[in-house]
Amino acid sequence: MSERAATAVAHANIALAKYWGKAERARNLPAVPSLSLTLDALRSTTRVVPDAALRADEVVLDGAVASGRSLERVVRMLDEIRAKTGSESRARVVSSNDFPTAAGLASSASGFAALALATTTAYGLAATPSDVSALARRASASAARSVYGGYVALRSGVEAAEPVLRAEEFPLAMVIALTASGPKSIGSTEGMRHTEETSPYYAAWLANAPALFEEIRTALLARDLERLGPLVEQSALMMHASMLAARPALVYFAPGTLRVMERVRALRAAGTLAFSTMDAGPHVKVLTEPGSVTAVESALRGVEGVLDVRVSGAGPDARLVPEPP
Ligand code: PMV
Repeated sequence: MSERAATAVAHANIALAKYWGKAERARNLPAVPSLSLTLDALRSTTRVVPDAALRADEVVLDGAVASGRSLERVVRMLDEIRAKTGSESRARVVSSNDFPTAAGLASSASGFAALALATTTAYGLAATPSDVSALARRASASAARSVYGGYVALRSGVEAAEPVLRAEEFPLAMVIALTASGPKSIGSTEGMRHTEETSPYYAAWLANAPALFEEIRTALLARDLERLGPLVEQSALMMHASMLAARPALVYFAPGTLRVMERVRALRAAGTLAFSTMDAGPHVKVLTEPGSVTAVESALRGVEGVLDVRVSGAGPDARLVPEPP
């Protein structure tokens, strides 16, 4: 099997219908269906170079040599591909994000989607986008969605994500208010396990998330932001309610998080279609129309506790980029 250097770019995605909780830990299958928007402005670029002379995989993430769990997760994916191709070559992996890593901005999603595409290509494995999505999902379920651009669903109990609507079919934007610096304290895998094991509201989340996903999917296909937005807010808050009811409580909100949500409600009362969502981190992502981005951005910049604001439109599929000559 021919091996070569390969570089892939994948974009982060933000869930409109949230995934929280696993149906099967070993295969990393989500317990609930989710639906996301891939973001143009948040990108991971990952280069994989198989090298028969290496004794171990070497992984550099955002300029730092990876060790511990972050190294393990990358090596596990490389091992899976090597087991399929019969290759014994270790690899040099260099990955970088153009946004803050591990702070609730979905860096694992874009990172593992880019890694899955670069690795299959580097080891000469014929893989469809659905194969790449399934491979990415085993490392981080949300990464399955970053293989596709636009709006993407990952159903519960399935291997791969599926595209729902292309970006240009319903061009929405996200305005991201960064409300804290530094990495988050509890990662999503650990946070999910803690919620599953200790939150009395987790069962209610599992019971209600599938119907909410269907409503979100229907509103999206109708290209109806007025209907979609409140459902998106409910999905995030329902997920956070299950975290807040855990023992001890899993609180990802920073003071600025609540202030931004309040500002978004005020914008809406004044007639702007803008809706908040939050993940396993303190930042607030505001879904809005492209024509409202400037107004939303300047409103959020004025909120106490907001450190920075990023703006993104809907992003494209993960893709390979040419190797330097
Ligand atoms: O795929 P993970 O393990 O990074 O989990 C993602 C969980 C959330 O970001 C909170 C929700 C989602 O669907 O992306």
